Amino acid sequence: MLKPSQTAYVPFVSVENMMRLVHHIGLEPMLKDLADEIEADFIRWPLFDKTPRVASHSDVGVIELMPTSDGETYGFKYVNGHPSNMKKGLQTVTAFGLLADVATGYPLMLTEMTILTALRTAATSAMAAKWLAPEGSKVMAMIGNGAQAEFQALAFKAICGIEEVRLYDIDPAATEKCARNLQGLGLTVVPCKTSQDAILGAQIITTCTADKQYATILTDNMVGSGVHINAVGGDCPGKTELHKDILLRSGIFVEYPPQTRIEGEIQQLDADYPVTELWQVITGQAEGRKDARQITLFDSVGFAVEDFSALRYVHSQLKQAGLFQDLDMIADPDDPRDLFGMVQRAKTA
Ligand SMILES: NC(=O)c1ccc[n+]([C@@H]2O[C@H](COP(=O)([O-])OP(=O)(O)OC[C@H]3O[C@@H](n4cnc5c(N)ncnc54)[C@H](O)[C@@H]3O)[C@@H](O)[C@H]2O)c1
Repeated sequence: MLKPSQTAYVPFVSVENMMRLVHHIGLEPMLKDLADEIEADFIRWPLFDKTPRVASHSDVGVIELMPTSDGETYGFKYVNGHPSNMKKGLQTVTAFGLLADVATGYPLMLTEMTILTALRTAATSAMAAKWLAPEGSKVMAMIGNGAQAEFQALAFKAICGIEEVRLYDIDPAATEKCARNLQGLGLTVVPCKTSQDAILGAQIITTCTADKQYATILTDNMVGSGVHINAVGGDCPGKTELHKDILLRSGIFVEYPPQTRIEGEIQQLDADYPVTELWQVITGQAEGRKDARQITLFDSVGFAVEDFSALRYVHSQLKQAGLFQDLDMIADPDDPRDLFGMVQRAKTA
């Protein structure tokens, strides 16, 4: 068999190598690094190619493509969201992604992104809370204790100084799993029997549930003045977590309005309802939290720029960590026009 040329190979980060990378860097340092990378890319927000993600919906879920480019590097993520998967023993969210060189269009890296999505979502949530949450927040309610939950809790510890997480899930087995996983990691962990109990004394409320319907994880009377809500689970048309009245009492902060108006909590509001873009708060062009009594809401849906930052970060770590395999992915004939000849020669080689 003919051996592929060096150009044919694309570094591939498997699930196994991604897990090794997390432990090589350390989970909390990696969450901090990712938050810094994402924040740096939010500062240069205007130069990114931006489009609402391309979604293919079915009765049971959604498959999405999330592309963006800064003009030098291009990235995309393939991601699904299938709340009913859990009953089949499958995950709600799985993902992989690719980084490419804009100058040639050649891929630079292919990687698993199921783990990377949990890391980048948690890093983005905590980065947003750093700008919006009440000063000195120490207690977070974590409603929805599934795949994303521990990553969220640890990002808020590492980046915002959260000391206590109060857990609630409709399925007590999820809360048990989450509490067990968080043991010994430096947080006070309080499993709760109701969401009301979970939000007691919390300055930050994270909702991270999965249900393909308009759900009401928080009702208006549950949310007191001054809290910061990190709403992660409402991220599809027809899939929200908060009662509309909470939105009407909150200062609402979003990633990319054209996508969030389709997918976020604000799909419940008029199309021109005022919202603030997070990148403008970070660059000082818009006000963040107004005062200690304001309810701030980060209506997170997940945007392509966050995946781009995560992809570039992993790519920057590859060489020194050596945690990748070469994938024979790009057909590379000696004569670029002789693709056919290369195929023919493989018959006899
Ligand atoms: N905004 C983003 O960037 C982003 C990124 C990743 C995932 N998500 C979304 O976050 C959500 C959670 O993802 P996951 O991977 O952790 O899913 P998961 O299925 O692993 O966990 C979801 C948990 O929510 C619980 N739940 C469902 N209804 C509930 C209710 N009414 N009250 C309390 N708990 C309830 C389930 O029992 C489950 O344990 C999904 O909706 C996913 O689409 C958003």
